[in-house]
Amino acid sequence: MLEVNNVTMGYGDLKVLDNVSLKVEHGETVALVGSNGAGKTSLLRAISRLEPIWSGSLQWNGEELTRLKAHEIPFRRIAHVPQGRGILNTLSVEDNLYLGSYIPPARPHREQNFHKALELFPILAERLKQQAGTLSGGQQQMLAIARALMIEPELLILDEPSLGLAPVVVDTVFKVIKEINTQGVSILLIEQNLVEALKVSTRGYVLETGVVVMEGRASELASNKNIREAYLGL
Ligand SMILES: Nc1ncnc2c1ncn2[C@@H]1O[C@H](COP(=O)(O)OP(=O)(O)O)[C@@H](O)[C@H]1O
Ligand SMILES: [Mg+2]
Repeated sequence: MLEVNNVTMGYGDLKVLDNVSLKVEHGETVALVGSNGAGKTSLLRAISRLEPIWSGSLQWNGEELTRLKAHEIPFRRIAHVPQGRGILNTLSVEDNLYLGSYIPPARPHREQNFHKALELFPILAERLKQQAGTLSGGQQQMLAIARALMIEPELLILDEPSLGLAPVVVDTVFKVIKEINTQGVSILLIEQNLVEALKVSTRGYVLETGVVVMEGRASELASNKNIREAYLGL
């Protein structure tokens, strides 16, 4: 479905991704884990066409994404929840959700998708009229994910959804990620929280300073001795 092939990119003279390849198959949750500065967000921004790549290819259902502009990406049913969430603070929860269904193909189902999103996140249903900026960090993350679902994505890309959240909220967010995948949405999950990310994923990739150093089934990566030493200090 999504195939990242030998992607190299950077900013100015600084190379931040070197020959990165990864795949997300239909129905999978794939984790891309790595420390701060490894290049995770840069890869997501390349997929969403927010950054150019130097070489390689980005294939989506057989189409070359590098030929598209950023505004065309949602039309391909790829939804990207950026690091830091990107919700509109001065608008209500309800308006943020409806803004998520701006692309014409998603409009006929907007009421249905709205109710589906609220079923996943009951806390938002209680706060529809509240200004998004006054929600807690966890609620804002949930709103950002709910809004992304309004385009009925085939692929949901989440950039560090657990960052800065209290542990109990992190649990809720990962539970919902699992539930969204069960409903048929493929997920590319970017995380520094390797343990939690691998728990909800089918497969995973470990990115270190722009290079994929390990890949495999999530359960195998989670029990890998090198990973446990490097990332968990075990
Ligand atoms: N717009 C930018 N201009 C210059 N350097 C950048 C820019 N964005 C990210 N970088 C650099 O690219 C590297 C990878 O960053 P990033 O993709 O954000 O990593 P991660 O998401 O894994 O923390 C870092 O060294 C970062 O400083
Ligand atoms: Mg990042």
